[in-house]
Amino acid sequence: MPLTAVVLAAGLGTRMRSPLAKVLHPLLGRPMVGWIVQALQDLGADVIVVVHHHEEAVREALAPWGVRFARQESPRGTGDAVGSAVSLLPASGPVIVTAGDTPLLTAVSIRRLVDAHRGSCTVAAFKAPDPTGYGRMVPGVGIVEDAACTPDQRRIQSVNSGLYLFDAAYLRAELPGLRPHAPKDELWLTDLVGPTSQVLAEFSPDEFLGVNDKAQLAEARAILRRRVNRAWAAAGVDFAELDGISVDATVILHPGASLASGVIVTGRSSVHGDVGPHCVLHDTVIHPGARVNAGSVCDGAEVHAGAVVGPLARLRPGADIRAGAHVGNFCEVKNTILHEGAKANHLTYLGDADIGAGANIGAGTITCNYDGVRKHRTTIGAGAFIGSNTALVAPITVGDGAIVGAGSTLTQDVPADAIAVERAPAKLTLASADRLRSVYRRRSGK
Ligand code: UD1
Ligand code: CA
Repeated sequence: MPLTAVVLAAGLGTRMRSPLAKVLHPLLGRPMVGWIVQALQDLGADVIVVVHHHEEAVREALAPWGVRFARQESPRGTGDAVGSAVSLLPASGPVIVTAGDTPLLTAVSIRRLVDAHRGSCTVAAFKAPDPTGYGRMVPGVGIVEDAACTPDQRRIQSVNSGLYLFDAAYLRAELPGLRPHAPKDELWLTDLVGPTSQVLAEFSPDEFLGVNDKAQLAEARAILRRRVNRAWAAAGVDFAELDGISVDATVILHPGASLASGVIVTGRSSVHGDVGPHCVLHDTVIHPGARVNAGSVCDGAEVHAGAVVGPLARLRPGADIRAGAHVGNFCEVKNTILHEGAKANHLTYLGDADIGAGANIGAGTITCNYDGVRKHRTTIGAGAFIGSNTALVAPITVGDGAIVGAGSTLTQDVPADAIAVERAPAKLTLASADRLRSVYRRRSGK
């Protein structure tokens, strides 16, 4: 039977103390409400999201999920919120209702509710160690809101989770009859849960962690991180630990990949190789057999089999490190291909460049790619040797197999197999250093 779901996300969320809509706060690269929408879509549900505050931002953030929206004109409680979606519901059939700020709810738990549903209404309940604030499940009555509880009812620990399954026809028939509650004149969805409604108990309280402030956001993030990591580990990815590694929901990992402690992987990254401690990867592809060593930061880069990057390297967009190439410590690479086996092992900036196969880039080499107005390209041929501390003023080409002497500042092309040295001869005054030191000492009075 086709499933419909209504996600209530019209609330303001003032306790987040943030200009961002509460339900849009990011959790592992996905807006909070995206997690519940994804879980519902995993079950095949047609999802309707009820919006009001930050409506435009919520619509935009959920565009990738292709949900439908219902606008709650002036939010007047959970009954009013579902009422605003009623015209989008089918004539009959199961309708899941849930809140947009419980991102830990899983498809497995929602499926349990769907499978158990009988009659017009089923509610998911759990046992809260501290039930304050929740509606209580009162046998023979239904749900009694915290504010309306008698002292005896207040002690009941079985509470309303806010996840329900209604029959659409029942909602259509009963929602118009809801009566407002003082003092805010709210319409409560919980009034549709009566003595004959089915209560499905013993859901896990963890899944209903409501995110209302930044502390709960951090808590939810920690739980999701562990859940995501555990699933990848079960699929054959080697995790040094499950807590201190963060992998966004947008990332793809491959069996055989390994991630050390402190690694953060975000965006459209795909990792199949080894990533050392405290690396940050965004929109980056690490092929099988590639290694990124400790403390490296990669954004928009690709590292091929047998290549080694870092420790402490920085790859920026367009860095393409081909098979067997090396990029060592304190090297920055942007919009540059290092072809097979090329090496830049220390202290180098390579920007807008093409480094030929097997070329060796000495420590301190800089491609001077920017003249203050435009960027220019540097091309270095296969097997070329660039001596330490060379400045290559682009546009410039160094031919295959050429040698550039250390300390050169080059502004013209070097042909293949040529030797280029740009270096003023040293001035030597023999046996004079000690005399010079005495002069300095006298001047400083020592
Ligand atoms: C609600 C339930 C309570 C349950 C608890 C579980 C009611 C009357 N009470 O209480 O029994 O134990 O959830 O967390 O339903 N929303 C709208 N439009 C509105 C009002 C709310 O979209 O006009 C959304 C909120 O953004 C939120 C959700 O509905 O995502 C729940 O609303 P909230 O005001 O937090 O209800 P509770 O008081 O927590
Ligand atoms: Ca709430």
